[in-house]
Amino acid sequence: MRIPEHKIEEIRAASDIVEVIGQFVRLRKRGKNYIGLCPFHNEKTPSFTVSLDKQIFHCFGCHAGGNVFKFLMDFKKISYVEAIQELASDLGITIEYESQQSEEQLSEVEQLFDINLVAAKYFSDILLNEPNGEIARNYFGKRKLKQSTLRAFGLGYALPGPDVFVNHLKKKNVDIEKAVYLGLITKSESGKLYDKLSGRIIFPLFSPNGRVIGFAGRVLESSDKSAKYLNSPESKIYYKGRTLYGLSFAKEEIRKLEQAIIVEGYMDLISLYQAGIKNVVAVSGTAFTDEQAQLLSRFTKNVVLIFDADSAGVKASMRSIEILLKQGFNVNIAALPEGEDPDSYVNKFGADKLREIVKDSKIFLEFQSDIFYKQGLFDDPVKMVEAIRELVKPVALIEDELKRTLLIKSIAEKFNLREKLLEDELDGFLNKFKRERRQEQRIETAEVKSVQTTTIQQKKKISENLVVSEIEIIKLLYEGDRNLVEFIFNYLQPDDFEVEEHRQLAFLIFNAFNENEEIQLSKQIEKIESQSVQSYLLEITLEKHRISSRWEKMDSYSEKDILYKIAVDSIKRIKINKIETQIALCRQKLKEVKTPDEVAEILAEQRDLDLNKKQVESTFNISLKLKQSS
Ligand code: CTP
Ligand code: MN
Repeated sequence: MRIPEHKIEEIRAASDIVEVIGQFVRLRKRGKNYIGLCPFHNEKTPSFTVSLDKQIFHCFGCHAGGNVFKFLMDFKKISYVEAIQELASDLGITIEYESQQSEEQLSEVEQLFDINLVAAKYFSDILLNEPNGEIARNYFGKRKLKQSTLRAFGLGYALPGPDVFVNHLKKKNVDIEKAVYLGLITKSESGKLYDKLSGRIIFPLFSPNGRVIGFAGRVLESSDKSAKYLNSPESKIYYKGRTLYGLSFAKEEIRKLEQAIIVEGYMDLISLYQAGIKNVVAVSGTAFTDEQAQLLSRFTKNVVLIFDADSAGVKASMRSIEILLKQGFNVNIAALPEGEDPDSYVNKFGADKLREIVKDSKIFLEFQSDIFYKQGLFDDPVKMVEAIRELVKPVALIEDELKRTLLIKSIAEKFNLREKLLEDELDGFLNKFKRERRQEQRIETAEVKSVQTTTIQQKKKISENLVVSEIEIIKLLYEGDRNLVEFIFNYLQPDDFEVEEHRQLAFLIFNAFNENEEIQLSKQIEKIESQSVQSYLLEITLEKHRISSRWEKMDSYSEKDILYKIAVDSIKRIKINKIETQIALCRQKLKEVKTPDEVAEILAEQRDLDLNKKQVESTFNISLKLKQSS
């Protein structure tokens, strides 16, 4: 199904980016724009900017940016279509889908989702219905999964054999190159195609909204020959560090219970879910990432991590704990008896027992100190200092000062430790982290500057003046005013821009204008493929016009007039610059040529150029006057 272009336009036009983003980010008005703390990276001072009139957002710190759809996609980790659908439903706009569609009409991302859906259906069908899916059915039987659970999680089985699945894809007319890209099949050097997950049981991986973004395949029987799990490679629709397995199933329950249980494995999550414990996500064997924490924080700030009883679990998960604390999560830890994982435990003892364990979970700090206490570390003065240091370090990551103080106090009391000792250690870490953060910020600012300067300065030796003029024109082209665009293209062609990025950006509007398309920045930005060109455009359009000092004094002019004046001024400079470059070239050539004929020819050329230059100067003085009198 496809959403017609005019509907997308209607939804974009009806939505207000400040209102949409304002639901998730606290925005303050500053000048024409709104600013706030960027939701895409950690920052202390706001560099996240939202423009009401341009309907775009941009972070000067991490360079995230785009239109209202892009914000929802990035923030909610959803697809383009999902973002449109979500906005439409918020606005009460009904979408009539175009059912007649060809492959080309679907965006590439949609095609990828479709291929994954074909694959997921195929694997699931084998597991549920095919005679030779028996072996996988038996496997899941042994692991106590019910048929309804297999269905709910879309579990499947990939038949062994070199290319059974390849043939299925071909039969379904799937774009084979795209299937290779998604890691479903591989291509040998000789061009032969092979199944990638053959003989494995399949766990589809879902986006938070329940679309299939990739797969994990587990061997049926553990052997040391092949990896236990094979996961899809990252792709345009699957980014591992931004994915939490099971979130699409768990999100409602997590919100309702105001708590998320974090487990490690796919099977852990599925078994808990089957047992009725549904507020669970799985990290899939790696440390939590900042992005996963951010994703989860939309549903709750309370997490319970489940570990083996031994202390190794906490140590191994320290990185995850730190990331969660830093993002303001309340982190609790629950301990399972030695040798059990949530899956085995719930199957042996049942859901109620596991709920009890979750209920008995302790704040990470208390959990850790219990272990140290049992290890006798607090009895030995030397070891105690070491232990306290290790305990206090993560506390320093908590931003809330009150929370920090309370935590330290409770530990001091419980284990009869001197509070001052803990406080001093805490201060040490706080200072250290502050220094590190400052360092990070310095690097960030340097990076922001470098985007603009490298884009510009790598361009041979284009004069600063010319670059500024080009930037001004690009900004005007993206004002969304057709008359202004027409005016500019009367005098300039995209090829007239010296800076490659400017040429590219001018072409975009040039084409849109000629196609009679909407020329709004918030629409056109979607078509720019390069991330850096996108953020470059956002950066230049969000800064004020570098109005030349002459214009600044003319406050008797309307805003619109000023835009035309900037246009005229900049066009003139670009044109004159072009001519002057050619004149300089003539002078150069004059030094090199020998015959009188050649000299005469170049002199003639130079005269033409001089004349041309005068013409340009007078033309633009005239149109300036015209504009002034109109
Ligand atoms: N994992 C992985 N690749 C591996 C091993 C593990 O991606 N080679 C991830 C999987 O997400 C797995 C999790 O780490 O679910 C935990 O690994 P493990 O405990 O070994 O597997 P279980 O999920 O417990 O699987 P099972 O119960 O079937 O052994
Ligand atoms: Mn397991």
